[in-house]
Amino acid sequence: MPGRKRASSDVTDAGYWDSLAGNDYENDVFSSLNDCVTDAVIRALDSCVDPTGVCLDAGCGPGLYLKTLSTRFSHVVGLDLSPGLIDLAKKRANDQSICNCSLRVQDLTKLKAKSFLKSASERIPGEGPLRGFSFALAANVLLGKFFSFMRAAITNVTDASFCIAAPDRTTRKEILSAISALLLPKGKLMVVAPSMESRLFMESVLRQWDEDAAANEGLASLRVPRDSKKNKRARRLALNDVLSGVLPTGETMTQHFLKEQLQCELAEAGLSIISCTKCSYALSTEFASPPKWMQKNGSISKPWDWIVVAQKQ
Ligand SMILES: C[S@@+](CC[C@H](N)C(=O)[O-])C[C@H]1O[C@@H](n2cnc3c(N)ncnc32)[C@H](O)[C@@H]1O
Repeated sequence: MPGRKRASSDVTDAGYWDSLAGNDYENDVFSSLNDCVTDAVIRALDSCVDPTGVCLDAGCGPGLYLKTLSTRFSHVVGLDLSPGLIDLAKKRANDQSICNCSLRVQDLTKLKAKSFLKSASERIPGEGPLRGFSFALAANVLLGKFFSFMRAAITNVTDASFCIAAPDRTTRKEILSAISALLLPKGKLMVVAPSMESRLFMESVLRQWDEDAAANEGLASLRVPRDSKKNKRARRLALNDVLSGVLPTGETMTQHFLKEQLQCELAEAGLSIISCTKCSYALSTEFASPPKWMQKNGSISKPWDWIVVAQKQ
């Protein structure tokens, strides 16, 4: 779940991210590092620490991960599509006195590994020629490109938020193969990505909530809003949406992944999964007022993203 409160737009377009850089990015966009309610992100990063290795922060955004990465690797190279976010990342590095990082604007889909490594070497002081990265992070970067159009055209629904979308798997493939080409043999990649399983579970909770209300209060209660976030979403997921994985998150369409789907896409890029854990978020990220039974029972899963650590074969 990479974001909230975003204007509907193309998440593969630098202009979209630049517009967020001009606003209150940290309030507008989820951070797997800052909003995770457990230490799962840190534990996954700690399983990849390499104090002599160089780390790639692919799609680094405003550099929220920089400090954490800079203490675990000898140098961090942060790349992002958005010049506005790279400026924010540079400011953050400066404010936090992070000296072992270099940040630059780069579209990962256009990256050529050989020439990139050559030019990166020149920017890393004290390092010899860079043969590759020992670790790469891609936190909520495998977004894909969506072509949204009005569902109204085919269903007579007039609400503009009803749109259907087709994900561009090519974009994700290009990003993953670019990162894989930059990794050293046995180098590791950590991916954080929205979980389809989480989304389906949360949707099933909402359905159960409706059914319980209908049983207790009669069918008329189905017309009563159960949860304002659900009503903002204002749609039942259609099978095609579920199969594509492209589902509305707040006001933006977001690619969601089954664990097995991530496994397949990583394998296509020559990477095999060595661990898969949950980056859990507060219930309030999905529900305006979570059902009481959910709040009371601490063992029920909270909304989560997948944290996958994979290794280059
Ligand atoms: C949800 S933000 C995540 C930022 C950061 N990784 C974090 O977790 O805080 C997604 C980032 O991916 C970047 N991005 C999307 N597509 C990209 C591409 N093709 N090349 C480089 N960066 C890209 C966006 O500009 C944005 O900064």
